[in-house]
Amino acid sequence: GHYDTGGYEHYLLKEISEQPDTVARTLRGRLDDRFHIAHLGGLNMDARETRSFRRVKIIGCGSAYYSGQIGAQLIEELARIPADAEPASEFRYRSPVVEPDTLYVAISQSGETYDTLAAVQELKRKGGRVLGIVNTVGSAIARECDGGVYLHAGPEVSVASTKAFTSTAVAFALLALHLGRVRDLSPADGRRICEGLRRLPGQIKEILALEPQIKELARKYADSPSMMFVGRVRGYPVAREGAQKLKEISYVHAEAYPASELKHGPLALIGPEMPTVAIVPDDELLDKNLTTLGEIRARGGRVLMVGHRTADPKLADDCVVVPRNETELDPILLSIPLQLLAYHAAVALERDVDKPRNLAKSVTVE
Ligand code: G6P
Repeated sequence: GHYDTGGYEHYLLKEISEQPDTVARTLRGRLDDRFHIAHLGGLNMDARETRSFRRVKIIGCGSAYYSGQIGAQLIEELARIPADAEPASEFRYRSPVVEPDTLYVAISQSGETYDTLAAVQELKRKGGRVLGIVNTVGSAIARECDGGVYLHAGPEVSVASTKAFTSTAVAFALLALHLGRVRDLSPADGRRICEGLRRLPGQIKEILALEPQIKELARKYADSPSMMFVGRVRGYPVAREGAQKLKEISYVHAEAYPASELKHGPLALIGPEMPTVAIVPDDELLDKNLTTLGEIRARGGRVLMVGHRTADPKLADDCVVVPRNETELDPILLSIPLQLLAYHAAVALERDVDKPRNLAKSVTVE
């Protein structure tokens, strides 16, 4: 039936493997190839209102928050509107200044996370305009928001979020395209992003085909007591989500840091017993990232590089090479191998993959 593992050993692997389809569903009917815009009817906003926002604030919990960080970067890059993400729980309790020219976006797979719901209610009480990026149709958060984007990723059963995370990032790319094209994003750039989005499902399929390699790497690294995840700018939220996935389901301690901050503290932890997963896209920060890898290696740290090029063996012990998309969209693809890495680490350590200890799929209490 609908909710079984469909022949996969775990829901998590099923949900990871579904992503070519779930991303296609998030995109379906929303890309306009004539004007290179996104159709997001559920936003309930006209062009004038869409142009009026001067800031975007994104809130969510757990993986939803990390996908919101990717979303904030997409909005800044494509729409050139200052944007940032914050955990919904923190936002709600620090008595935030709610401004009329800020667009608030709440993210939730379940649509029932209490901290996120309460933050939305607080925003509404103060007159804020709130959109929802939600998977579950008709859920509490979806109903509370003024409009939004449904993911259409289908039910997510495994506690650790994978396909909803990816579809949320895709939904943000659509929102960023939409906000960008009523502002300064050119038709040519709009077209570049539309075409990049259409390539995602096929490229995700290519990444899923790397599973045997990633499974071996997971076995190789899973017995480390702790792992470091690093990335810069677009790679940083990817690193954070990668560390989160590993912690949640394999119980291996992991930390995520901006690669640029390593030298200001955590470099002291680096040594043979703490390997690093480095997110290294082929962007304008490539050389800086490679320098960091050299610094890690010089301290005896092992490096697993996830990026677009096979690294010099002097810089990385192992490499997972993913297909390139447009630079702005690359974080979506770079996240997929880290899901498989966490999954196979958890399997190798014989963890309860779909129901990790102490965690719940949706936290509907405070
Ligand atoms: C729980 C889950 C996480 C999830 C978070 C937010 O903590 O264990 O995997 O990211 O809730 O859930 P939501 O349904 O609001 O996206």
